[in-house]
Amino acid sequence: MDDLRLEPLPPTLEDYLDLRRLSGLTPKRPDQGAPALTNSWAWRRIVDATGRSVAMGRVVGDGGWYFLVADMATLPDFQRRGLGRRILEGLLAEIREKAPEGAYVTLLADPPGQALYRSLGFSEPTSGSVTMHLLMSA
Ligand SMILES: CC(C)(COP(=O)(O)OP(=O)(O)OC[C@H]1O[C@@H](n2cnc3c(N)ncnc32)[C@H](O)[C@@H]1OP(=O)(O)O)[C@@H](O)C(=O)NCCC(=O)NCCS
Repeated sequence: MDDLRLEPLPPTLEDYLDLRRLSGLTPKRPDQGAPALTNSWAWRRIVDATGRSVAMGRVVGDGGWYFLVADMATLPDFQRRGLGRRILEGLLAEIREKAPEGAYVTLLADPPGQALYRSLGFSEPTSGSVTMHLLMSA
């Protein structure tokens, strides 16, 4: 663990695409990934001694009140060592530090992350709201 370092930076594009693919998230192309790296509100990555990112997460947000956690991924060999928790704690701390009081933080919780997210205070809406999504194709 000592050679793993948490940084407030995005992974490289190559690492980003690898992390999504190897962790089982839907693979993305470089033209989709590059803007994610530059246009997000906050990033965290954990790098190994060689500088390769082994875990990542980001926040897409308006800086005012609405924040979406995305791209939570840890390489399979590094999972269940607390890296995802360190990433998410870092992102939430940055929202607490920089956003005005009353921030709304949301995410789409896939099964592997649900217990982690609950343990950090996330819960399902009780208002009857459901997640709806639209995948745009050409
Ligand atoms: C979701 C994901 C990012 C979590 O990353 P992670 O680095 O494994 O996260 P953590 O290690 O902090 O926590 C995961 C689990 O490991 C456990 N854990 C943490 N440290 C541990 C340790 N030293 N020994 C054993 N278990 C440990 C945690 O308690 C947690 O268990 P839980 O799920 O029962 O709560 C990872 O599983 C992943 O990349 N999954 C595939 C992609 C995906 O589905 N992403 C989520 C999109 S919403």
